[in-house]
Amino acid sequence: MPTHQNDDLAGARVLVTGGAGFIGSHFVKRILRSAGIARVTVLDALTYAGHIENLGEAFLSPKLAFAHGNILDADLVDELVRDHTAIVHFAAESHVDRSFFAAGAFVSTNVLGTQTLADAAMRHGVDKFVHVSTDEVYGPLPEGSASEDAPLRPTVPYAASKAASDLVALSYFHTYNVPVCVTRSSNNYGPYQHPEKIIPLFATRLLRGKQVTLHGQGQHVRNWLHVEDNCAGIELVLRGG
Ligand SMILES: NC(=O)c1ccc[n+]([C@@H]2O[C@H](COP(=O)([O-])OP(=O)(O)OC[C@H]3O[C@@H](n4cnc5c(N)ncnc54)[C@H](O)[C@@H]3O)[C@@H](O)[C@H]2O)c1
Repeated sequence: MPTHQNDDLAGARVLVTGGAGFIGSHFVKRILRSAGIARVTVLDALTYAGHIENLGEAFLSPKLAFAHGNILDADLVDELVRDHTAIVHFAAESHVDRSFFAAGAFVSTNVLGTQTLADAAMRHGVDKFVHVSTDEVYGPLPEGSASEDAPLRPTVPYAASKAASDLVALSYFHTYNVPVCVTRSSNNYGPYQHPEKIIPLFATRLLRGKQVTLHGQGQHVRNWLHVEDNCAGIELVLRGG
């Protein structure tokens, strides 16, 4: 049985995977400011993309705990999920260009990792499982925007692994009634983004007088969302989505 109302995080114990990464660290700082929240635990493997320093002042909060570990570690995941009322799942291999050369890690972390978490969520009956995904699952759009139920047409291994992870997470909703919500935001920008991503990469290269490389003919149009706006949306979903 749920232990608290979804639109009221009072007493909630939230497990945040990938909370030492770019978006996850902003989200952790944000929900630590939320009234009434009892505990936030970050589970992060601290890959090349995760930096404990991203959490910085968040460690001043007695409500924050950090678990260094892998979402593929079923025993650890089970132990952590048992003690939490909600999961917000950011942990992923997230860089499209790396997926061209190391797709196996993307399938393993993004798909199997999500299934490992969903399995534990099912066993322990969490109140909410927010699975953070990407608009890239819809594939490139010639124009306009995709509706929520548009067909999934990922064209790169990163997007395919995220689409697969969405379907796995949602299958736990349909099969076991796990309260799964999926968010699919567009590209994020903001402080603490890894310098491999396009805006910090281009900014740092251009500041040094170096050239930058665009895919294709430079005709692509992208939509950008500030990381704080995405985190506000994810918090809304956590509370009542
Ligand atoms: N950055 C974007 O523009 C964007 C846009 C839409 C969706 N997303 C999604 O948001 C989520 C977070 O993206 P981000 O840009 O913050 O990513 P990021 O690469 O900055 O952070 C990922 C975090 O996950 C951790 N991690 C990776 N593998 C792990 C594992 N096996 N076990 C535990 N922790 C692991 C890393 O250490 C890191 O802290 C991802 O799921 C991504 O697909 C990102």
